[in-house]
Amino acid sequence: MFLEINHVNKQYKKDKQTNDVLVDIDTSVAEGEFVSILGPSGCGKSTLLSIVAGLDQVTSGEIRLDGKLIKKPGKDRGMVFQQAALFPWLTVEDNVIFPLRKEMTKKEAQKRAQEYLQMVQLSNSAKQYPHELSGGMQQRVAIARALAMNPKVLLMDEPFGALDEQTRARMHVELERIWLETKKTILFVTHSISESIKLSDRIIVMGTRPGTIIADIQVELPRPRRFDQKETIQLEKQINQLLKKEIDKVVEEELAYAANQ
Ligand SMILES: Nc1ncnc2c1ncn2[C@@H]1O[C@H](COP(=O)(O)OP(=O)(O)OP(=O)(O)O)[C@@H](O)[C@H]1O
Ligand SMILES: [Mg+2]
Repeated sequence: MFLEINHVNKQYKKDKQTNDVLVDIDTSVAEGEFVSILGPSGCGKSTLLSIVAGLDQVTSGEIRLDGKLIKKPGKDRGMVFQQAALFPWLTVEDNVIFPLRKEMTKKEAQKRAQEYLQMVQLSNSAKQYPHELSGGMQQRVAIARALAMNPKVLLMDEPFGALDEQTRARMHVELERIWLETKKTILFVTHSISESIKLSDRIIVMGTRPGTIIADIQVELPRPRRFDQKETIQLEKQINQLLKKEIDKVVEEELAYAANQ
């Protein structure tokens, strides 16, 4: 498989206490597949994505991309976070060019930046500064910057979490188009059920305390996905029930903990 996550465990240790965050995460992603990781807050989604990015380490297990063991960040993985994290003193174009400069000449980097800004429909904003853009536009710059490096996989951690609902819906259409155009492998973290149904080929549902995979759902619905169809509503309901069980579990644990204090 293209991206292999093999029996990954992650613990954090603090004051002799061990916190199991991820327990036996074992899955894989095919080349070109759009996979969402869906789960309640604190279940370890960002931790898992950070490990794939090479920003964090496994306690045991391993991750391989195209056969190669992942140990640290690399240009084969592009990352997009909830906040666009652009350089405020650089123009939109220069933000995209900056990471490319280590790889190619200035002229080549400029050409590449133009190409990807066109893809995210921001050619007209190339000379603007980040603070002059809306949140959705800033996220599009971040996506262009990540894709311009031509990574093997695009890792996205709640990239639209800070956007209003209308902008978010527009970004879904944009991202789906970009994905269809580039055929990139995408690993997308979200806690929105509808977002995961809208975008993914497959939804990996995580449970919490500790973080484990509780379901792996193939989404067979035709694209663009519609939320007024019986099958979509049914899937939404099914996932909602799975997550509700997890959230109820956390609430029960919290109540028991509080009662023992
Ligand atoms: N550096 C760290 N040190 C100790 N514990 C950590 C660290 N990073 C994360 N954790 C713990 O790991 C668990 C999972 O955190 P993580 O951020 O991966 O969750 P998440 O699923 O991304 O949540 P959210 O949906 O709120 O973003 C949490 O209990 C958190 O407290
Ligand atoms: Mg997170």
